[in-house]
Amino acid sequence: MAQRNTDIIPTIPGLAYGGDYNPEQWPREVWDEDVRLMREAGVNVATVNVFSWAGINPGPGEWDFERLDAIMDLLAAGGIKADLATSTASPPPWFSQAHPETLPVNAEGVRLNYGARAEYCPNAPAYQAAVVEMAAKLAERYANHPALAMWHVGNEYYRSCYCDDSAAAFRDWLRERYGDLDGLNSAWGTTFWSQTFTDWPQVMPPRASAETPNPGQVLDWQRFCSDALLKLFRAEADAIERHGSDKPITTNLMVTGNFNGLDYHRWGEHTTGPNRLIATDHYLIPEQADGIPWSIQAAFGADASRGLAAGSPWLLMEQSTNSSAWRRGGFAKRPGDLVRHSLSYVARGSEGAMFFQWRASRYGTERYHAAMVPHAGADSRVFREVKQLGAWLKDLAEVKGSTVDARAAILLDFNSVWAAKTPGQPSADMDTYPELRRWHAALWRRGVTTDLANPAWDLSGYEYVFAPHLYLLEDDANLRAYVEGGGTLVVGPYSGIVDGNDRVHPGLPGALGDLMGVRVEEFRPIWEGETADLDNGWVGETWSEVAHAVDAETIASFKGYPETGAVFRRKLGRGEVWYLATRLTELDPFFDRVGVAPDFPGAPADLELVRRSHEDGRGYVFAINHGKDPAKVPATGRNLLTGKAWAPMLSLKPGECAVIREG
Ligand code: GAL
Repeated sequence: MAQRNTDIIPTIPGLAYGGDYNPEQWPREVWDEDVRLMREAGVNVATVNVFSWAGINPGPGEWDFERLDAIMDLLAAGGIKADLATSTASPPPWFSQAHPETLPVNAEGVRLNYGARAEYCPNAPAYQAAVVEMAAKLAERYANHPALAMWHVGNEYYRSCYCDDSAAAFRDWLRERYGDLDGLNSAWGTTFWSQTFTDWPQVMPPRASAETPNPGQVLDWQRFCSDALLKLFRAEADAIERHGSDKPITTNLMVTGNFNGLDYHRWGEHTTGPNRLIATDHYLIPEQADGIPWSIQAAFGADASRGLAAGSPWLLMEQSTNSSAWRRGGFAKRPGDLVRHSLSYVARGSEGAMFFQWRASRYGTERYHAAMVPHAGADSRVFREVKQLGAWLKDLAEVKGSTVDARAAILLDFNSVWAAKTPGQPSADMDTYPELRRWHAALWRRGVTTDLANPAWDLSGYEYVFAPHLYLLEDDANLRAYVEGGGTLVVGPYSGIVDGNDRVHPGLPGALGDLMGVRVEEFRPIWEGETADLDNGWVGETWSEVAHAVDAETIASFKGYPETGAVFRRKLGRGEVWYLATRLTELDPFFDRVGVAPDFPGAPADLELVRRSHEDGRGYVFAINHGKDPAKVPATGRNLLTGKAWAPMLSLKPGECAVIREG
């Protein structure tokens, strides 16, 4: 949406293709075969040094770059670029023994041991100093190395810690936010249950307690934990730049909907812009699928990442070629999925497709994790698909720098996601992410590509904005401006309820009642297995409200309760706002009623169609047939995957893909 890409990973020719490469796990002779196979597969970038702290800094004050020099030189000689990690995600045993206070403490007060990975407290001064030193040393040595394409700071930031250092840092963060204890007491509503603080040392992280903790405290703790990790990322990034590097800096976030420990929109302010690149990892998680096919789950991750990048370049940094062994067993990707999921990501704006990992490990926890070169070696279906994908990505090089202009957005605010999970909710089932995924899937099936966008951003470019569950909202100003300016806003139930501190707005639905012209009198959660019928045939589940139109049209009511409404519409300014006072079991008939039109009218269901375009208008239609029948692709031009002309009467067989350069 916002700005167009200008300078897109200039250090990598074409789209990025490759994966995490851990040559330290292999004898030297395997490295040469690796580079030969990478070239055969069209790999042009490898992520190295992710877990090598023990190798380059084997003891206090000891530094040994011989192996990393050799790896970087090998890649440079092979024409492969390096996404050079700072290796700070996993301190080695010597470090943990020398600085036991850096080991993380859980909410129960147990200090965890080392022996796995990411065993650090983000707020421990010794760890903070060590990561800056590491980043500085690496930048000094490799800033001008010919292999260097970009920096990969840390790895999948997520660790939190409840130790005394963290408690002190939390207090500093709260002081900064609220000024004094009166401000904090008011924000957290500490008159409830006699929780009032009279001195700062009384303020603690939400450690395990006898009863449910204060929701304001829990929410601020999540914000603080996200900020503490962001501080670490920024400290490393600053050190890299201070020591002479001008290459892009990234870190692999997990913007996929199955992990929401960080406020990625806040992170986005520091991971987009000059010399920064948004990168994301996507692992399909069968137990979190909620019946949504993998193709649409992949699209969700991509749409969330594109939303976060807001027009800046972004990249799928990790995914799996097949099963991810650390999840519940018994799942494998179907043949062709690794290509289809990667193309779906590229269709949706990613500047390439990367994997964890290049070569399957022989040992360690992830010894059964899939790879581009599986244990079976190069003579395998997976490697053949890896080569196919590499060849296609090369053919798609000209797509780099083009963007997707989505007509619709789904609103996502991490603060709201967290707040909706705080203790003491009227229904434990009003969870935000599953609902966002459900709406996203319904819109995908309807042929509407959506950005996942923050409610505070400029939304004026969108035809439709969907807010499936926006529980926390300070005020309606931005959404009102969007509607009055001509947008169509669709709001799901239990939205606008609390302010930024999870305090219930007076008069429901709080922040949104005036805008929607609706008054909510009561929440009426619906027990699992039960439903609420609407008088127009639609059905609600999980949640219902006793709601009245104040200045809105009632489109449907609950059967037997005609005096209250279930679906409302209000025309306002040049736009309109819809409100659902229940979770509809089927969203499609409702979207029909709202009049949500597909991006490509008349296209078959299960045909994923997304358009990327350059600023000068050159456009590409990506088409992936996820259905069981042949599907006609409504585009004219040349299919870059085959080099042949494409006309709208041509169709793709089930499972096939095309990328049509229009014209
Ligand atoms: C990611 C992580 C990688 C690897 C991968 C396995 O979350 O960044 O290091 O562990 O998972 O799926």
